[in-house]
Amino acid sequence: MLQTRVGALELASPLLTASGTFGHDPAALRFLKTEDLGALVLKTVTPEPRHGNPAPRMAEFTGGVLNAIGLENKGLAYWRDHVAPDLAALTVPVVANAGGHSVSDYVAMTEAFDAMAGVAAIELNLSCPNVADGIQFSTEVAALKEVVAACRKVTPKPLWVKLSPNVASIVPFAKAAESAGADALTVCNTLIGLLVDWKTQKPMIANGTGGMSGPAVKPLALRMVWDSARAVSIPVVASGGASTAADVLEFVVAGATAVQIGTASFRRPDAISAIALELRELLTENSTSLEELRASLRWPHPVSC
Ligand SMILES: Cc1cc2nc3c(=O)[nH]c(=O)nc-3n(C[C@H](O)[C@H](O)[C@H](O)COP(=O)(O)O)c2cc1C
Repeated sequence: MLQTRVGALELASPLLTASGTFGHDPAALRFLKTEDLGALVLKTVTPEPRHGNPAPRMAEFTGGVLNAIGLENKGLAYWRDHVAPDLAALTVPVVANAGGHSVSDYVAMTEAFDAMAGVAAIELNLSCPNVADGIQFSTEVAALKEVVAACRKVTPKPLWVKLSPNVASIVPFAKAAESAGADALTVCNTLIGLLVDWKTQKPMIANGTGGMSGPAVKPLALRMVWDSARAVSIPVVASGGASTAADVLEFVVAGATAVQIGTASFRRPDAISAIALELRELLTENSTSLEELRASLRWPHPVSC
């Protein structure tokens, strides 16, 4: 009932983990029933180890969380030796997520993931708002196109491009990624925000600004999914604020093929299995299917510019 295809990738479910919210390796899978999870999207890996930003790096607000982890990870060599060998035995497809600061960083990561048997698809994180360099890949169409085209040349594996919401319109970026050879888009990364402690008169996280995620960003992510899905013919994977089965179906109606669950897993590590259970119930009760609902949004008036 929940089977879904993202391009060439067959998934048991449309529910995926969101990069950086479900661990650096498959250890957190123990919280989920594997039939509920479409793919395990792992934390961004960069060519070199990164310590990330100073603490505090996360703060909560009513509608979600603000984070500025800063892509902390142990680097590609560690990942190749200690994480990759365990991936091939998993029954769930793994999407490895690549980060970097230059075209050559992204190409090196893509080549490395391409060579790993346990990696089914590669997601390019072009859109982390919490690192100083590399921001051009999510905010300049030409830079995005160049990096995606360069990565496309070095892998036949499904290549997903994770876009930023921190732009005036996501459409030119979605189109550029598709024309440069992306197989799917992930829409979208976190939204730059600020939380303030009025008593100390300081930002709540040491980086100052951070990336917003959780329920508060859902309307924005829905709009971006709707805009992207109409602009391209490759699948759109939604990311931003989904925490219930109804949220997931809203993204599907707006045009998403699959939906990543991020912040909701912090509140409840088995959130994906809980949502999958509810999703099966909702589809049965309403005698409908993911295919029937996909991109079925009925706009109230003709869409104009
Ligand atoms: C603590 C934290 C760390 C994250 N780390 C990454 C990361 O390493 N790479 C990435 O592409 N996205 C990262 N994200 C963004 C999530 O993958 C996701 O796109 C975003 O949180 C929106 O979805 P959500 O509202 O379901 O959490 C991170 C988000 C959070 C909250």
